[in-house]
Amino acid sequence: MSAAKLIEFNSLDADIQELIMASVEARNYSYSPYSNFKVGAALRSEDGIIYKGCNIENSSYSVTICAERTAIAKAVSEGKKKFVALATVADMDKIFVTPCGVCRQTIYEFGDIPVYLTKSTLGTVLVTSAKELLPFGFHLQDASA
Ligand code: THU
Repeated sequence: MSAAKLIEFNSLDADIQELIMASVEARNYSYSPYSNFKVGAALRSEDGIIYKGCNIENSSYSVTICAERTAIAKAVSEGKKKFVALATVADMDKIFVTPCGVCRQTIYEFGDIPVYLTKSTLGTVLVTSAKELLPFGFHLQDASA
């Protein structure tokens, strides 16, 4: 997969724009009373279905699950393991929020899918991939095969 690039939201394919807008929708449901940092994610499976996720925090902080892993858990628990793209959006308009290390490993498990990172203002989208986010990630088998 090619190196990260910046692409205008309006220039992206309609299915990618739809995926990003689904991540924005998912962010509305963020349960983040401790950080007040809302994150949304949307994952499209090979059959075209979109699985949305938000971050879900906990009084015991380390129990928190990130938006990316919520979306992946929803999809996998519905029997999906082949994905075509992931989009994430946080509440920041100045910087791209990139997935944490645990999420990178979780995404990597399901193959080198494109990852679209979006600022709250949409505008320019950073397009990267699972492998680029986690070069030499730990790997026993290809779960997407
Ligand atoms: N968070 C995500 O949901 N995804 C990311 O990519 C980065 C961090 C969440 C976890 C926590 O609820 C909050 O953002 C602050 O770290």
